[in-house]
Amino acid sequence: MDTQRELREIVTQMRGLLRSYQEIGLDPPPISADVLGFFSTTESKTVRPSAPHGGEGKVRVVVPDRSTSLMHLRERIGDCQRCKLHKSRTHLVFGEGSPEARLVFVGEGPGYDEDMAGRPFVGESGKLLTRIIENGMGLTRSNVYICNVVKCHPPKNRDPEKDEMEACIPFLREQLRIIGPDVICTLGRVAGQALLGKGFRMTGERGQWRTYQGIALMPTFHPAYLLRNESAKREVWKDIKQIMQRIGLEVKAHG
Ligand code: URA
Repeated sequence: MDTQRELREIVTQMRGLLRSYQEIGLDPPPISADVLGFFSTTESKTVRPSAPHGGEGKVRVVVPDRSTSLMHLRERIGDCQRCKLHKSRTHLVFGEGSPEARLVFVGEGPGYDEDMAGRPFVGESGKLLTRIIENGMGLTRSNVYICNVVKCHPPKNRDPEKDEMEACIPFLREQLRIIGPDVICTLGRVAGQALLGKGFRMTGERGQWRTYQGIALMPTFHPAYLLRNESAKREVWKDIKQIMQRIGLEVKAHG
């Protein structure tokens, strides 16, 4: 049997098996969340087989939707103990918003309030970010996606350390890959360096379009910095206007 047909048959059998499990009210079999996502979602797309012998006709491949993929990613992170931040956290803060978002905000790491709530940007700097999104951009938090470089609160709001960032960044990269937004907005130096490299500097590079994995990236100030430096709001508004233009939103008066 050729490889394409063999794969097709495995997929058909797996989907049948999953259906039978659902029908009799059992949990899915113990296979990894990624594999399960591949077989169990309903969205499908048609691709041309690349193998020369499979050149005729098309193969239907089941593609997990973004929401399912994010859910599976969260499951894969689990009760994470990959770095020392787990010892002092109350909640792991995965991220929230629309899996279909065209704009993703990336912060540094949860603060105290976020650690308590299990949600990103809900404290004082979060309220400012929410105002930027709602009053400045005319969007809601649920129109965008908000997440952080590290998913657990660094004690005393210190910067995440190298080993902590290294342990956690694969999950941020995966979130961005799944969502595939048009624009990423990094908030502050730590988020900028995490996605653009250690050489990234806020001074001189803030407000300048960059690219991360083919996605337009706008580095701007962290809202916590704006709370301490009122005058920097003007710069952030310039950056936000650039983002709005890029995603086709109408820019109104100063927000
Ligand atoms: N600061 C961040 O960088 N992220 C949050 O979620 C909250 C505050």
